[in-house]
Amino acid sequence: MEQDRQDSSKGSDSSGEIDLEQRLKYLLLGEEDARILRGLKASFEEISDDFINGFYDHLKSFPEANGFLQDPDLVKNLKKMQKKHLLSMFNAKWDQAYAKDREKVGYSHSSRGVDSHLVLGGFYQYARMGIAEILASSSDSNNAESAESLYPKINALLKVIFLDIGLTLDAYFKQSTVDLEKALEMLWRSNAELKQFAQLASHDLKTPLATVSNICEEILDEYQDIMPGDTAELISVAQKTVLNMSTVINELLSATSDLSMMPDDFVEPVQSQKVVESVLERLTTRAGQREITISVAEKLPTLIAHEVLLKEVLYNLLTNAIKYIDKKPGHIEVFSEIRDREGILIVQDNGPGIPHEDLKQIFSPFKRLNQHQKIPGSGLGLYYSKYLIEKQGGRIWAESKPGKGSQFLIALPLVVNST
Ligand code: HEM
Repeated sequence: MEQDRQDSSKGSDSSGEIDLEQRLKYLLLGEEDARILRGLKASFEEISDDFINGFYDHLKSFPEANGFLQDPDLVKNLKKMQKKHLLSMFNAKWDQAYAKDREKVGYSHSSRGVDSHLVLGGFYQYARMGIAEILASSSDSNNAESAESLYPKINALLKVIFLDIGLTLDAYFKQSTVDLEKALEMLWRSNAELKQFAQLASHDLKTPLATVSNICEEILDEYQDIMPGDTAELISVAQKTVLNMSTVINELLSATSDLSMMPDDFVEPVQSQKVVESVLERLTTRAGQREITISVAEKLPTLIAHEVLLKEVLYNLLTNAIKYIDKKPGHIEVFSEIRDREGILIVQDNGPGIPHEDLKQIFSPFKRLNQHQKIPGSGLGLYYSKYLIEKQGGRIWAESKPGKGSQFLIALPLVVNST
């Protein structure tokens, strides 16, 4: 963690000052460029409104960027801030205030969830339109400038844009790292709380369960011969159920033991069929209440995995499917495919599906889909599932047909000769 903290403060010293001098030297951005940029300011001031409008037309023609620009008041405000931002590049006053301004832009975009490639693409628009303006103003003038004399102007413009990209994206990723650290901290904290809870609950639950099991056994020993057969059968089922419950509690306990301490070589051949079936025992009632049927293919493969962790992930995926299915009757299918040396377990539902643009993000911490906002959830379940699957050396991803349903796929190494 300490290492991460150091990394996330890259680019500034312990007092928060940004290493501007080094950056300017590295970009060969000096007094001559400053003079050139100041000389360009008047012509950029003249076209700044067209420039900014052109920039926003470009952004608005891409749905992923346009999604952030739905509120006309926000766009109006953004245009104003962008114009100020653009023109300040031509003041060529590269001090801490300038750098902090760029840092703020990085933080704003990161916390708003604007993807870094959109921001970078935005800077390309700055370069494209800026160069076009330099060329246009040179050919407008009576004595058109030679290509050689245009070069220093274009060069100075590119350098200052690259300075901005560096400052902005460094801050962008610094913010993302901090967000991730917070998410991890929450995860560890909730994990520790869960462990504590499980230990307390296990003690409180296991003792009475053992008593009930013993009583069942004593009744059977003493009175089986004089009981009607059906009654003896019922008591025996009760005893088995109680024993199963004890097993579930033990498994929960081992699942919540400190995962970060788990060695990497804990995986072993696991019969995924058995894992899925035992998860279903915990979920049948919940699915029934929502009129959802769950069908499981007959021959699921034996995989190299950690049984308890795989169980937790399948439990999480199936619980999600049950929670979000919006049709009646709901249906969930669990089946598998073999691809190369991997077994793929697939959980498919006929729920609302996931918009294509959200598919990659759903495994990030706190990413909850708009369509799910009304259903309670922490936004950590899938993130945690991904963590658990990757800890076993596997992969997890989602595919979806919006409106028709989703598939969650878990790939784990296959045991050779497994079916
Ligand atoms: C050259 C690239 C870009 C520059 C220089 C830039 C500039 C700015 C500036 C100066 C701010 C105000 C920051 C503040 O004071 O908090 C801002 C905020 C914002 N920008 Fe950008 N931007 C760029 C690209 C984009 C792109 C591609 C999008 C996506 C549509 C976008 C959407 C936003 C949003 C949503 C905010 C936050 C507004 C708020 O929280 O009130 N920007 N940007």
